[in-house]
Amino acid sequence: MKINFKIWRQNNSKMKGHFKVYPLENITADMSLLEALDLLNEELVEKGETAVAFDHDCREGICGQCGIFINGRAHGPHDNQTTCQVHMRSFEDQSTIVLEPFRANAFPIVKDLVVNRSSFDRIIQKGGFISANTGGAPEANSIPIGKERADYAMDMAACIGCGACVATCKNASAALFTSAKINHLNALPQGNEEALSRTYNLVEQMQEEGFGHCSFTGACEVECPEHIPLTSIAKMNFDYMKAVAFKK
Ligand code: SF4
Ligand code: FES
Repeated sequence: MKINFKIWRQNNSKMKGHFKVYPLENITADMSLLEALDLLNEELVEKGETAVAFDHDCREGICGQCGIFINGRAHGPHDNQTTCQVHMRSFEDQSTIVLEPFRANAFPIVKDLVVNRSSFDRIIQKGGFISANTGGAPEANSIPIGKERADYAMDMAACIGCGACVATCKNASAALFTSAKINHLNALPQGNEEALSRTYNLVEQMQEEGFGHCSFTGACEVECPEHIPLTSIAKMNFDYMKAVAFKK
């Protein structure tokens, strides 16, 4: 395959960025998009040019580190997939692939396709401590919560913090991410005492970080690689209203 990569190049958040086109040959259909970028970077370095900066770690759809806006979609052409799971067979030979960083005020650009998502870390940090009754040893066969609730907590815990929900949202809202974190913890018996204050603090921090408000377009749900549903946001809003009402 021969592909033209049209890539956003930007040295840092203070400088202006621009698109630059790089033709690349010898791509196979089984290569991942990130492997094709590795190949491009090898060529650039050989020519004495600066390699394209992009984020990645596990390359297995687990860590949430990768994140590129590919041809106008967060994480590329398929629903519910991470950037590292995108393969070159998803694109036509001789086509142009446009690569941009995840754009949001709360995700300042570090370099090229790399953005700073530490705003997510600060939202999580607002979770604070939990109270847990250490008491005596629990009865071995006791079940603190039912399977349905345990499954729900696990589903919410699946959020890998990739930021695709923010990048794809026209309001750059982090509601899907924040709701996943809140609902995961609130479904568990540990820290139940702090459930409402935790909800309040995380939502307030989300707003403080400059993320937009959710207008329920559902775009986030389509791109989320972990299938966090839109109903998760409705639950967060309900708990937030309760927290405000009870002044937690
Ligand atoms: S909710 Fe989904 S899209 Fe948003 S950060 Fe978590 S895993 Fe990524
Ligand atoms: S590199 Fe880990 S999820 Fe993509």
